[in-house]
Amino acid sequence: MPNNVIVLGTQWGDEGKGKIADLLTAKANMVVRSQGGNNAGHTLVVGKQKVVVRLVPSGILHPDCLCLIGSGVVVNPIALFEEIAELHKAGIPKVEERIKVSGASALLLPIHQAIDKAAEKKRGSKAIGTTGRGIGPCYEDKVARRGLRVGDLYDLDSFKEKLRALLEYRNFLLTSYYHESEVSFDSVLEQVMAVRDRLLNMVCDVSALLEQGRRSQQKILFEGAQGTFLDIDYGTFPYVTSSNTVAGGCVTGSGAGPLDIDYVLGIAKTYTTRVGGGPFPTELNDEVGEGIRQRGQEFGAVTGRPRRTGWYDAVAMRRAVTINSLSGLALMKMDVLDGLEEVKICTAYKFKDGTVSELPPLAASEYEGVTPVYETLPGWSESTFGVTSWDKLPENARRFILRLEELSHTKVAILSTGPERDQTIYLSDPFAD
Ligand code: GDP
Ligand code: IMO
Ligand code: MG
Repeated sequence: MPNNVIVLGTQWGDEGKGKIADLLTAKANMVVRSQGGNNAGHTLVVGKQKVVVRLVPSGILHPDCLCLIGSGVVVNPIALFEEIAELHKAGIPKVEERIKVSGASALLLPIHQAIDKAAEKKRGSKAIGTTGRGIGPCYEDKVARRGLRVGDLYDLDSFKEKLRALLEYRNFLLTSYYHESEVSFDSVLEQVMAVRDRLLNMVCDVSALLEQGRRSQQKILFEGAQGTFLDIDYGTFPYVTSSNTVAGGCVTGSGAGPLDIDYVLGIAKTYTTRVGGGPFPTELNDEVGEGIRQRGQEFGAVTGRPRRTGWYDAVAMRRAVTINSLSGLALMKMDVLDGLEEVKICTAYKFKDGTVSELPPLAASEYEGVTPVYETLPGWSESTFGVTSWDKLPENARRFILRLEELSHTKVAILSTGPERDQTIYLSDPFAD
């Protein structure tokens, strides 16, 4: 019986990972985040309550679930405690006690946010459209081996020394290259010291906890952040985030073993969205796209930015299926396509030179002049909102899903017909299959 399930985005983020992670956590003992940071925004809706988690794993609404933050995550300690305070205020019990953080995770500091914003400004019309949370610069410092880790907070003298060296280097860049004002050592130290003891109380060996869980047959959910095409290696580089968002990242970033994963559930919408810059072959800049944005409430959970919208892309999905070893899909937001006369699925990309490909290229520059080849299917006028069984779906909606499965080379395990937990159709159960 599968005990270790990965939930990850197969598009450009915001697919609905939060809803599915929260749903599956009803059966899980632990939920672990492995990459990204508070650039993520995962929405959980329970009745009238809507909670958006950024750094905290989506298991937090289930009172007995342990929430782990693995070594691959970039942890902004100030943002973490702000989020904990919000969750506490929302009436969620034992929030701080249930979060465990790897001492090896990277510390994201105010200097990273300052560099992120300055770098975006400098890029001008070529801006990536980052969330401005300092994610890229923090990963840069980690890879360059000059960044600080959560565990560095134990030895205060050494922490101060490393912080001084980091700020000396980063402030030189910030002031002399970007011509912005510097971030002072004293202000960073003060902000970090205000939460140091509480953060150190949460530190643990996440990899060892996962191993303990595995040995005692506990159910563990690995919660991905962002999406496959924002992956630093397999996304539309350079319009990507700075971590491995694919299934491999869930393993390296948590400290689980690769063979411990039993099921990889890919999350996708019945259409596609993207926030920020970069290629988007099926983008709709017309009233159909605007209709999807409005009906789907496609506005960023972190930044509030309107999301770009377009048709479902089976070309991209075929790549997502193979690089993530997808076992099945959770297909979200069925209801948003209600009422459309026709619906489209992108089946191939046509390049400027006339060649046609059934797989997407690996860099943004190679997308230039790409046009989508579509298959058009009839839409449905009936509402699918809140439908809970396959048989109650309009016939054309079922036809659309079956064709989407064929073109994507994968099966739908879960179908979502609304933001709430019970607005869901289960075709198979990742923890039971
Ligand atoms: P995540 O980052 O992948 O967790 O996704 P977000 O939370 O950023 O965005 C997904 C949005 O879609 C959230 O506002 C969810 O409440 C909402 N949502 C999820 N599933 C459905 C669905 O089936 N129908 C509708 N209408 N909304 C949904
Ligand atoms: P969730 O987990 C959608 C996008 C940003 C930008 C690019 C780089 O909620 O799906 P970054 O701040 O990471 O350096 O920005 O990645 N991005 C997301 N888009 N959902 C997210 O997270 C995202 N996290 C980052 O818009 O294009
Ligand atoms: Mg999101």
